[in-house]
Amino acid sequence: MTNPIDPGDLIGELRALLDGEPDLVANAANTAALIFSRVPRLNWAGFYFLRGAVLVVGPFQGLPACTRIPVGQGVCGSAAARGETIVVPDVHAFPGHIACDSASRSEIVVPFSIGGRLAGVLDIDSPEPDRFSPADRALFEAVAQTFGAAHRPAE
Ligand code: SME
Repeated sequence: MTNPIDPGDLIGELRALLDGEPDLVANAANTAALIFSRVPRLNWAGFYFLRGAVLVVGPFQGLPACTRIPVGQGVCGSAAARGETIVVPDVHAFPGHIACDSASRSEIVVPFSIGGRLAGVLDIDSPEPDRFSPADRALFEAVAQTFGAAHRPAE
């Protein structure tokens, strides 16, 4: 499946959105809205922030979601524990997948860091099986990297 959006354009728009604004929640809200409005065939896009050993839901677009996910559980917690992207072509085949929206069929979770430390994950869900291509993975990894690099660690 070709990607109908230009990744360069999306990252350029993201940089413009984040430019000059230090607030993490404001920027996460705009980033989730940018992804959800520009990337087709999604049913959830948003953030979980790392709070100790638990991921707590942050700004997102989509149906209400699980508020807290322990690191190591579900796709989000597994990606956080490994510190690497997880692409799940079929959520029903992922042991421990946490179903927040029963419409979700595939998912990608990308960890992001702030100041060199894991700060949370970007979670994107689709109602379409096997929705996320290697190009999508590269795009969302660039989003997560750009988002993390735009912030300073909290005091
Ligand atoms: N499916 C995720 C939970 C978060 S929702 O998809 C928004 C998981 O297994 O971690």
